[in-house]
Amino acid sequence: SRMTIAVPASTANIGPGFDSAGMAVNRYLTLHVEESTQWEIEHRSVHLPSVPPVTDHLVYQAALHTANAYNKTLTPCKITMESEIPLARGLGSSASAIIAGIEVANQLCSLSLTKADKLKLATEMEGHPDNVAAALYGGFIVSVLLPNGEIEILQKTDVPLDLVVYIPTFELKTEDARKVLPEQFSRNEAAAASAVSNVMIAALSAGDFTLAGKMMEADLFHEPYRATLIPNYEQIRQEAKLAGAYGTVISGAGPTMISFAPKGEGHKIESKLKTTFPSYEVQLLSMDDVGIH
Ligand code: HSE
Repeated sequence: SRMTIAVPASTANIGPGFDSAGMAVNRYLTLHVEESTQWEIEHRSVHLPSVPPVTDHLVYQAALHTANAYNKTLTPCKITMESEIPLARGLGSSASAIIAGIEVANQLCSLSLTKADKLKLATEMEGHPDNVAAALYGGFIVSVLLPNGEIEILQKTDVPLDLVVYIPTFELKTEDARKVLPEQFSRNEAAAASAVSNVMIAALSAGDFTLAGKMMEADLFHEPYRATLIPNYEQIRQEAKLAGAYGTVISGAGPTMISFAPKGEGHKIESKLKTTFPSYEVQLLSMDDVGIH
């Protein structure tokens, strides 16, 4: 049997929604899967460099994690992967690979997993649900991993915004971008940071995008610490604002930045920033409201 699986990229955090907010975007990882006599994974994309041994491959690891969780054995497959998602740039490439691998096992082992089952497995692998929830459900997703391991999410698909990404040529590993964050916040700092986040999420949900954009740029959880890892951080924000963006933030753990703009206005920001920052891949994107399919 053959199957094709497509999983969107995602942008996590959206400023102050650190490890919690995410949005699926219209770039995709696509897998063509066919049963075979032995495991084989082939990469067909500029965004996918040399293939690691199958047992080190994230798609295989996610499939194996899933099969093991349900005491099943994975039958061997040949997987051909195409990707529009650059690696280690803050666009959720690992989350997409994990979601794809879970779906491979779901189909191979006839597990009939629900999205909630898949989210639990994916969050176990990623540590936080923001990117994986967006890649799975699509749309704008706010999620929480509770201390008892339960996960709750809220999805909103009608978010009329254009997205513009600024993808630099260099990679930044999430692990390295998490090392610069403080281990602890005082109660006052935590309350202030969460107040900014509360208003951002409420404003985005209510459709007050001017207020949402202001709060995106007022994050106290991660942006102030990561800004130094990202060349042109302030300049990109300023230029995008002048070109009409509501707000511009680090996409996930970076180094890509992303602007949120009025629907229909994103192309102006795209063309202006392309000129100002010619070494970046500047692209107008939109929200994916479907998730894996
Ligand atoms: N919320 C995560 C972070 C996203 O900012 O580190 C990247 O995995």
